Amino acid sequence: MSSVTVSAHPLMRHYLTILRDKRTPPDRFRQTLHQASLILLYEALSHLPTRKVWVETPLEATEGLEIAARIGFVPILRAGLGMVDAALALVPTAQVWHLGFKRDEETLKPRVYYNPLADRELLPVDIAIILDPMLATGGSATAAARLLKEHGVNDVRFVGLIAAPEGIAQMRQAHPDVPLFLGVVDRQLNDHGYILPGLGDAGDRLFATP
Ligand code: PRP
Ligand code: URA
Repeated sequence: MSSVTVSAHPLMRHYLTILRDKRTPPDRFRQTLHQASLILLYEALSHLPTRKVWVETPLEATEGLEIAARIGFVPILRAGLGMVDAALALVPTAQVWHLGFKRDEETLKPRVYYNPLADRELLPVDIAIILDPMLATGGSATAAARLLKEHGVNDVRFVGLIAAPEGIAQMRQAHPDVPLFLGVVDRQLNDHGYILPGLGDAGDRLFATP
C-alpha cells in the first residue's frame, strides 16, 4: 500500500471550516479536531490483517474476525495529542508512542526533545500510525517515519488534517512506501513555513498558548 488519500467526506469540509476559523476557541477546536480525526483514522485503519475466531451468540456459534496486528499510534507532540483520543476510541488496545519534536523557527528542521525509542532496538508494533494535524515542510513527518523504520516497523502510515504540497512531496520522496491519509491539501507554505490558508499553529490553538 502506498498512496495519498484525501478525505472527500462533507463532514470533513465542515470540521475544517470550524478549525480554520480564527474565532474558534480552544475547547471547540479540540472537540472538532477529535471529530475530524475519527474520519481520517477510520480510513487509515481500513486495511488491517484479521484472523478468524469463533464467537458464541446467545443462539449459536458463528465465525467472526478479530484484528491480528499490534497497532501503535505515534502522536508528534504537541499537536498530535489532539488526535490520540480519537485513535484510542477506535483501537482501545493500541500502544501509544509519543515523539517530542519542535520545529526550529529559523531552519524549520525538527529538534527532537522526547524520544522513547532511543533506548530500545525494536518497537513491539506491526503497524505504526503517525498522528500530526499539520504536514508543512514534511520535516517532522519524515523524521518520525525514519525513526519508526529504524526500529523495525515495516508498515508505517501517516494521518494528518492539513497538508502543504511541499510536505507531501517531501514524504513521497523520502518514504514512498508510507501512505498518507489527509483531510485536505492546502495551497502552499509561507516564508515562515506555515501552511496557507491553513489554521495557524495547531499546538497553540489546541492548548491556548498564544
Ligand atoms: C508543528 C506541527 C507539526 C510540525 C509540522 O509542530 O504540529 O509537528 O509543526 O511542520 P513540518 O512539516 O514543517 O515539520 P511544532 O514544531 O510547531 O510544535 P508544537 O506542536 O509543539 O507547536
Ligand atoms: N505547524 C503548524 O502548526 N501550522 C502550520 O501551518 C505549519 C506548521
